[in-house]
Amino acid sequence: MRRLLFVCLGNIIRSPLAEQLFSDLARRAGVADNYTVDSAGTGDWHSGESPDPRMVETATKHGLTLGGAARQVRPNDLGRFDLILTMDESNRADLLELARTPVQRPKIRMLREFDPQRDELDVPDPWYGGRGDFEQTYQIIERSVRGLLEALERGEV
Ligand code: 4NP
Repeated sequence: MRRLLFVCLGNIIRSPLAEQLFSDLARRAGVADNYTVDSAGTGDWHSGESPDPRMVETATKHGLTLGGAARQVRPNDLGRFDLILTMDESNRADLLELARTPVQRPKIRMLREFDPQRDELDVPDPWYGGRGDFEQTYQIIERSVRGLLEALERGEV
């Protein structure tokens, strides 16, 4: 059993999508029992909130129902999870500050390392963007979690 935590800033747009797309994909592939997944935000401004309605709408268009409530990353997440996938470099820097042991640091990876079409390592934050930006972020996260699941199932991660 691998324990995966997806992390962004607010835990209302990118990381809940990554978590729920990964779960959905693993279930369809018949390998859901190999994983537990969760998501969290480095900030606490949106704790307890549902996912952003703009990403809920985008996900719905693709047949995915997004739910859940936002929570902030806790220091013990770095112990509890095996692999922590961050959406951008600032999330990664914040988590590296929380990591206290040499065992914890290598658990922190950028999600887009697994995007076969990546042109950069950040998953763009669409907070100030329009519909097209939400769709672009959706596509990037979908490709990345697919790549991640394949890498995990091949034993590469
Ligand atoms: P997320 O997006 O980190 O993908 O959940 C954001 C959510 C909230 C804010 C920015 C990005 N904000 O500025 O409140």
